[in-house]
Amino acid sequence: MRIFVCVLFILISLKAEDFITKMEYAKMLYSNPRGIGCISCHGKKGEGSVLAKYKHKGKQKELVAPAINSLSKRKFFAAFKKSNSVMPKYFLTKKEIEVLYFYVTSEVNR
Ligand code: HEC
Repeated sequence: MRIFVCVLFILISLKAEDFITKMEYAKMLYSNPRGIGCISCHGKKGEGSVLAKYKHKGKQKELVAPAINSLSKRKFFAAFKKSNSVMPKYFLTKKEIEVLYFYVTSEVNR
């Protein structure tokens, strides 16, 4: 009987994992990937933000993290292959990038 209860408990806890939806997972990954959160630069929903304002040769300039909520999938993925940019280098799997794309382009997010 004890074993039965134990197995039942394990089954229930395994099932509970299903309660985190794809959207919740995507949101978590967006704000906390392996590395600094996308949210810090691209904003809460991928709308983009101004990271810094500065003067260069007397001209006012802005360092911008662009909006990433309406890019094509190809463009979105391309950003992870670039190095030498302001955006940090990430080592995410294809699936993880896919989920991030799902998050920022999701209609629910608008
Ligand atoms: C430190 C700030 C910063 C963080 C953190 C950051 N980015 Fe970026 N991102 C940028 C900047 C700035 C650019 C513009 C190109 C460049 O200079 O790298 C950019 C470009 C991009 C682009 C390409 C936009 C285009 O128009 O082609 C995508 C897609 C993107 N980022 C997605 C992400 C995702 C997803 C994350 C989290 C895993 C992330 N970024 C984290 C600053 C950041």
